Amino acid sequence: MSADQTSFTHPSFGVMTPERIIIFDTTLRDGEQSPGFSMNLAEKLRMAEALATLGVDVIEAGFPVASKGDFESVNQIARNTRGAVICALARSGGAKDIAAAGEALAPAERKRIHNFISTSPLHMKYKLRMEPETVLDLITAGNTAARNLTDDVEWSAEDGSRTEPDFLCRCVEAAIKAGATTINIPDTVGYATPEDMEQIFSMLRARVPGADRVIFSAHNHNDLGLGVANTLASIRGGARQVECTINGIGERAGNAALEEIVMALRTRHDQYPYTTGIHTQGLLKVSRMLATITSFDVQPNKAIVGRNAFAHESGIHQDGVLKNAATYEIMTPESVGWSRSSLVMGKHSGRAAFRDKLKALGYEDMDDARLNDAFTRFKDLADRKKVVYDDDIVALVDDEARDHDHIRFVNMSVSSVSGQPSEVQLTLSVDGHDTHATATGNGPVDAAFNALRRAFAHDAKLALFSVAAVTEGTDAQARTTVRLEEAGKLVDGQGADADTVVSAVRAYVHALNKLLVKRARTEPEALNA
Ligand code: KIV
Ligand code: ZN
Repeated sequence: MSADQTSFTHPSFGVMTPERIIIFDTTLRDGEQSPGFSMNLAEKLRMAEALATLGVDVIEAGFPVASKGDFESVNQIARNTRGAVICALARSGGAKDIAAAGEALAPAERKRIHNFISTSPLHMKYKLRMEPETVLDLITAGNTAARNLTDDVEWSAEDGSRTEPDFLCRCVEAAIKAGATTINIPDTVGYATPEDMEQIFSMLRARVPGADRVIFSAHNHNDLGLGVANTLASIRGGARQVECTINGIGERAGNAALEEIVMALRTRHDQYPYTTGIHTQGLLKVSRMLATITSFDVQPNKAIVGRNAFAHESGIHQDGVLKNAATYEIMTPESVGWSRSSLVMGKHSGRAAFRDKLKALGYEDMDDARLNDAFTRFKDLADRKKVVYDDDIVALVDDEARDHDHIRFVNMSVSSVSGQPSEVQLTLSVDGHDTHATATGNGPVDAAFNALRRAFAHDAKLALFSVAAVTEGTDAQARTTVRLEEAGKLVDGQGADADTVVSAVRAYVHALNKLLVKRARTEPEALNA
């Protein structure tokens, strides 16, 4: 669509005005394919539901040809998630890819096939080992095949920002002729500057025949920390779809963060007079849900959803905010889902206060069973610790809220005498059945991990082990990260507990559960988008 058009009819969204920005979320595809972020089917379904409720226009649910698991999750999301267009990824050159995408998407109310191929000289020569003319033929073939399965077809020029302009114009023209309705120009390696991105879109809109019949889309990676800036610049250049992920997760340094783009558009409407369909009060909740599912905390100073994003530490700032919040706040915390809670939690706090606190922290959708387990652990912690801080609760709830784990920690006892090996007796629940193991080791953590290997046999190697205190004081909870490596696959797990050894075991168990998900997946060749 040309930015100067008054309206445009889109195959999935109908009549669109030029100020409407389509939010295309790829948390479940580009985000999920990055190391350590894999999710199981139930987790993906929860995320998809949350994204649809948030108001995302297009959910890229996965890459069906990649594995049975990917096919199944796209298919289940297509069957169950309503309100958003469900999209599946496919390579332009792969007839099998497009067929798998079409089949997986069949139950969706509204569906999109997204096909891509590299167009930069570097990628064509070294990755694809193809001549430019062959790439052009595959663009035509891929979009024609996709268009036979749905009216909503997206084509991406992988490494588009490093593609020669004349060739990029030829590729885009071929894609439009073959039926693509959205043209995505990714900055795959996060190399472009805002000026580059604005220029690329302006150039394509000015030069390519048929450009006024399609939506242009931006997909910016964050290797230079420019993902969001490049996305805003792309909009200036005429892009009307933006591809992004919750918390900015994604390959390497990640993708442009959905919450940052949406709030930049809203807060600086004076410079970016555009609208999205996102219900911004839901941003924190979805961010938290993703962090819980993947066990990747959001950095404290992360814009919008980091726990310091609205915290004012300095006296001068606090004073200003009390007099008038606008002195130091450019948007209200409530507008993105934070609530100002003054509740101090301790051992006398009851279930209702705990539930209120969870709501204030963005955990609204915990079922009763999980809430009860979390409350029991909170009481246990409050007995040992005078004040339970928000961070303590976040650590404990994140730990408790992981659904559908095959392996769960039940209990353990440790005996340790200095100068002698430690002994650990451990009970795990594996698919609902208690399994006991005893082992010794060089210190309690070593003994606990040896017991774990006995209780659930596996060959994964421990690649990283780190412990940090969640808050201050010797009674603070320990938060442990464990990285396991098996056949080149890496997974990270996290656990929290006032007992450091229990925290370590929880982290190890979490990593093992993620490994089980990862084992089921094989990456197709040349998927390095
Ligand atoms: O970064 C990239 O180029 C991609 C494409 C597959 C859209 O993720
Ligand atoms: Zn990407």
